[in-house]
Amino acid sequence: MISQNTIQTVFETARVEEVIGDFVHLKRAGSNLKGLSPFADEKSPSFMVSPVKQIWKDFSSGKGGNVVTFLMEHEHFTYPEAIRYLAKKYNIEIEETEQSLEETELANEKESMYLVSEFASKYFQNVLLNTEEGKAIGLSYFKERGFTTETIKKFHLGYSPDVWDAFTSEALGKGYKLEFLDKTGLTIVKEEKQFDRFKGRVMFPIQSMSGRVLGFGGRILTNDKKAAKYLNSPESEIYHKSKILYGIYHAKQAIAKQNNCYLVEGYTDVIQFHQTGIENVVASSGTALTSEQINLVKRLTPNMTVLFDGDAAGLRASIRGIDLILEAGMNVRVCAFPDGEDPDSFAKKTPHDELVSYLENNAKDFIQFKASLLMDEAKNDPIKKADLIRDMVVSISKISDKIKREVYIQECSRIMDISEDVLFNTLAQLDKKEIQDANKKFKQEQKEKTFEVIRNETTTRLLSAEEISALLERKIIEVLILYGNKDVEFEETYLRVNEDGEEENFTEKRTLKVFEKIYMNLQEDEIEFSNPIFKNLVNQILNVYLQKGDFEKNEFLNQLDQTSEQIVIDILMNENKYELDGWLEKKQVFVKSKDDEEVLKALISETLISYREYLIQNLTKELVEGLKDENQETSLQDVMQLINDYNKLKVSISTSIGRIRTDFFK
Ligand code: CTP
Ligand code: MN
Repeated sequence: MISQNTIQTVFETARVEEVIGDFVHLKRAGSNLKGLSPFADEKSPSFMVSPVKQIWKDFSSGKGGNVVTFLMEHEHFTYPEAIRYLAKKYNIEIEETEQSLEETELANEKESMYLVSEFASKYFQNVLLNTEEGKAIGLSYFKERGFTTETIKKFHLGYSPDVWDAFTSEALGKGYKLEFLDKTGLTIVKEEKQFDRFKGRVMFPIQSMSGRVLGFGGRILTNDKKAAKYLNSPESEIYHKSKILYGIYHAKQAIAKQNNCYLVEGYTDVIQFHQTGIENVVASSGTALTSEQINLVKRLTPNMTVLFDGDAAGLRASIRGIDLILEAGMNVRVCAFPDGEDPDSFAKKTPHDELVSYLENNAKDFIQFKASLLMDEAKNDPIKKADLIRDMVVSISKISDKIKREVYIQECSRIMDISEDVLFNTLAQLDKKEIQDANKKFKQEQKEKTFEVIRNETTTRLLSAEEISALLERKIIEVLILYGNKDVEFEETYLRVNEDGEEENFTEKRTLKVFEKIYMNLQEDEIEFSNPIFKNLVNQILNVYLQKGDFEKNEFLNQLDQTSEQIVIDILMNENKYELDGWLEKKQVFVKSKDDEEVLKALISETLISYREYLIQNLTKELVEGLKDENQETSLQDVMQLINDYNKLKVSISTSIGRIRTDFFK
């Protein structure tokens, strides 16, 4: 593991504007930098980087974060990969923390396997481009297939000499250990003898999402029917066939940008597509897709288009695998090529624009495609047709979105000429639990989406109770993050009983830090936020203030989960968004200076008052509801008394300090 020390040095050294500047063209805009979003196609810049705050925000996709999250989003690095990348960029030595012996051994073993694979990739590439044998056999083969030198270099294609141990002895000579040549499968070790696994083949290195070489595919060049056309690296500590998609490293940015991923079968399909200019393409490498592979893509886009070879033979088999993509909640389209063509051969002879429009015109929604295809087969065979209905409904049941599912039922009913009722009944018979689980997941996702709505404060429709509380809770968090450390003179209003036994309001002036004021306020009424994410976040923020008396934004950001981090980043970037071209008008936001103590005071009071008022209103409602419930133990008297108390409190709150009404309760 990378030591905490190193991580800290990395954060202290790395400049967000420099790191992002390597990927995005940034221009000055006031105290910030701005550029075109690397996550969306856009014409006017909505991507902001703040050198002062060391954060970034992409207003078109809503993403944002610090220097590490940028690398995780843009390069799809894991956290440690991002730290290592930055350490390398800034020449920071990485200090590893102590690991158990086993952990160290495994980490070292994997590291050694990566190194051997990297070496092998370079070696094969060098043989291909710079040796007589490589050029005569390997390079001429690739050229014949229509690959340009540029393409060959981009994919690090190579050639393994037709000699029993050419690679192995070169590697051993360079000091690589036989143990790792064996473990990566590059060398086959048999009774003291060693052979190159890929002897005489052209080589396709298989890279991880972050570009590391994990394994190889090697294609034979002769027409030997007995030998496999492609030979792949065996499963190993670093190469898990079921978790890798060929081409993902070169495709990831295009996939996110185009918001779609083309799935093909073979290495050459991917490469030929790239050469034509279509880069959002990956290959399953001839096997059925696994859910791990689907998830790699799902991180980048919810849309997948599966491309089939022209021969109908494998079509039915491939179609089965697609249910898995539906199950992952992705939208699936399929596209077949003309008879006898595969994506490689078709892309080779089709110019870019023509290929793009072919894909656009021929990609069909999967469910419709499947229904039509199976209908052709089952036309006059009632038994087959019954099977087909089940088959279709199973596919549809994998879709967790209820609305989508209903639309599909209607479609299928039309295509297959069967009543919707029959389809719905079949659907109902299917494993109920499976569907329920899916629904649960969908609901959860919907809930998360509601957040997006709440975050947009210009919402004008009537808000639900849940939304109001979330809005206010978010506001409190905003105030804490932006102004928590400011001193403000507050007028505290209490309800107290005077000497005559009467209740009266009593006001006192006190200077407090904003976070103290908020903390005391929440404590006083034992208020817990109702939104679980905000509740967690506010507790974390208050903890930092209470323990350190100060709030270090970047340090804080690093300890947050993704959702909370996004919320905080949004808040931190809030001021910056007003500087964007046309942003103000578009969002109908009017800025007022919040530096002024009076405005700040009003803002805080207003937020707290609104929140309390909301809680009181809620409690009152609950009490009234409770009255209708006969099992309730509280008597009418008690409840009336409580409501009365609350109302008094409400009045006392409303009359206190510089009230600005919001429209939440109108
Ligand atoms: N494949 C494999 N082992 C085989 C055959 C195929 O691993 N014996 C995988 C390879 O990843 C290959 C993919 O399945 O890229 C698709 O197979 P195929 O269509 O036969 O290969 P192509 O990529 O079309 O190769 P080529 O055009 O060179 O024949
Ligand atoms: Mn093929």
